[in-house]
Order: sequence, then C-alpha cells, then structure tokens
Amino acid sequence: MKWLARIVMAVVVVALAAVGWVYAASELHLRSFDRPPPFAYPIATDPETIARGDHLVRTRGCRGCHGDDLGGEIMWGMASAPDLAAYARTESAATFDAALRHGIGRDGKALYSMPSYNFVRLRDEDVAAIFAYLRTQPVVERDLPAGSLPWSVRLDIALGDDAAIPAYLDLVPPLRRAEDANPAIVRGEYIAMTTCNECHGFGLRADSPWEGESAPDLMIVLAYDKDAFQHLMRTGKALGDRELNMMSGVARGRFAHFTDQEVEDVYTFLRDMSARASATQ
Ligand code: HEC
Ligand code: HEC
Repeated sequence: MKWLARIVMAVVVVALAAVGWVYAASELHLRSFDRPPPFAYPIATDPETIARGDHLVRTRGCRGCHGDDLGGEIMWGMASAPDLAAYARTESAATFDAALRHGIGRDGKALYSMPSYNFVRLRDEDVAAIFAYLRTQPVVERDLPAGSLPWSVRLDIALGDDAAIPAYLDLVPPLRRAEDANPAIVRGEYIAMTTCNECHGFGLRADSPWEGESAPDLMIVLAYDKDAFQHLMRTGKALGDRELNMMSGVARGRFAHFTDQEVEDVYTFLRDMSARASATQ
C-alpha cells in the first residue's frame, strides 16, 4: 500500500500549495495600497459641528451597515462592520479617514466591503464632523466576531477577477459642477456624489464597474416633477405611488432626513445633469 500513501501525500501537498498560493496572492493584493497622506483637518467639538456630523451619518447611511446604534454588525455573513463610536475613540482621525475615504483599514490592509467609493468625494470638514459626532456617541459593547474574506473571494482576487475597494476609487468621477454659477447645482452634486452613487453608479449613470446593478441611471428624474421627487425622498413612494424593492426603504431611512433645501438641490442638480447628457446624445 506504499504507493497509495504516496499518492495521497502528493494530493495533500498540491492542495496545500494551492491554498497557500491563494492566500498569499490575495494578501499581497490587500497590502498593495499605500496609506493616504495623514488627515490633518482640525476636529472641532462645537454643537454645530456635532449636528452636522449627525446629519451626515444619517443621510450617508452609516447605520444601514454599522447598526442602528452604530455598535457594529456582521454583513453578508463575512464582513464585520465595527462599532463606530468605539472606533472614533480608539483610532486617530487619520486612521478613520484612511478607512472612510480611501478604503484602507486600521491594520493597513485594503477593505473589501466598506463602500468608500461613496465617500471619497466628502470634504475634509465633513469627514472631521462625522468623526467628531461619532466620538460623542455611546460605545456599545457588543461581541462582534472578526470579519474574514471567504476563500471564494480570495480566489477571485488571487486570479485578478476581483479587487479590494481602493482599486476602484480612481474610477469615481471628480465633482464636475463644483464651479457652477448656480450654488444649488454645486450643493446638489456634492450630495448626490456622496450619497446616491453608492447604488446608482459611480457617476450616477448606472456606471459602476461591477455587474448585476439594480439601480437605474438617475436620468430617470426627467420623468419626475419637483413634487413627485420630493414625495419619493420623503415617503419612498415612486411615481404612481409605487413601493420599490430597495429604494423606498432607503429613502425613508436616510433621505427623509434631508432638509427641504437639500432635496431641492439634489433635484436641481440631477435635472441639470440629465439636460446636459440629453444635449450631447
Ligand atoms: C454598505 C455597508 C456600509 C456602509 C453604508 C458603511 N460602512 Fe463602514 N464598513 C462596512 C464594513 C462591512 C466594514 C468592515 C470592513 C470591510 O469588510 O470592508 C466597514 C468598516 C468601516 C470602518 C473601519 C475600517 C477598518 O477596518 O479600520 C470605518 C471607520 C467605517 N466603516 C466607517 C463608516 C462610516 C463613517 C460610514 C458612513 C459615512 C460607513 N462606514 C458606511 C460597511 C459599511
Ligand atoms: C442603497 C442603494 C440606493 C441608494 C443609496 C439610492 N438609491 Fe435610488 N434606487 C435604488 C434601487 C435599487 C432602485 C430601483 C428600484 C428598487 O429596486 O428599489 C432605485 C430607484 C430610484 C429611482 C427610480 C424610481 C422609479 O421611478 O422607478 C429614483 C428617482 C432614485 N432611485 C433616486 C435616488 C436618489 C436621488 C438617490 C440619492 C439621494 C438615490 N436614489 C439613492 C437604490 C438606491
């Protein structure tokens, strides 16, 4: 039976080598991104800054993944979204910013599930306000298991068929209307490009780099007048009073916290974006 033992041995060795390669190649990818220059914007603690941070956390959906009490949650059975109040107390603003806008975790490795592409255009003062607000929130002592990347994800990364968050951030378009003469358009673009582009595509045109997107090109607002748009943002009900699978809950959870001015600004910007896009088609 010596030959059988040898074959079994050989199979085991080959399998272990393959697993080792997948692990090493995926780790190499996760560690291949540099930390950004350290965030140095001052962290203010006045009530207006804290209120601004609170508003940003509500409207940018941090609770959707980090838990209603911000105390952390396991997402998709693999990713561990940490307690943000605890994080903001134990980590520096620079570490926080590296995660939020650049997709690099506190251990220096690239994040895989945290949607930093949605936050990469946040202004420094808003990052500082979110950080300041989180530090005022109670720490929830919940036992969260550590997240771990499934082997299937590691294999895709090792083969170059998938990548971690920082690999995508350069694909998020810059703010194109930042110099617009109409301040409503400037404000509206900023909100849309740090909120709606989580799902509607990096440039809001159903243009995310991955397949299987379900959220439409936001040129769909051409079908909406101001009241219908306001109604969608406030109640989650689309044109014709339709309840939508995902968007309705997202609107009620996050966008109901927009001020009337913010809703109007987003509308003004999206109409302008759509008019420009139709003019060049
Ligand atoms: C779509 C879900 C989702 C949303 C929305 C989200 N996060 Fe996360 N976040 C995660 C997950 C999951 C992780 C764990 C790391 C990973 O698996 O990528 C994480 C990790 C983090 C980390 C720690 C990274 C580290 O390991 O050092 C910070 C800080 C963070 N998120 C802040 C925020 C803030 C602030 C917001 C809102 C502006 C936010 N997140 C919104 C899912 C999300
Ligand atoms: C977390 C994901 C997500 C975010 C964030 C999001 N949407 Fe959506 N949205 C969807 C999805 C998915 C649909 C398609 C309908 C559905 O399945 O809910 C949709 C549909 C829509 C529609 C079409 C409704 C119709 O008539 O069928 C509009 C308009 C819209 N979203 C506007 C916005 C705006 C404006 C923002 C930012 C303020 C935004 N969405 C942010 C996921 C999202």
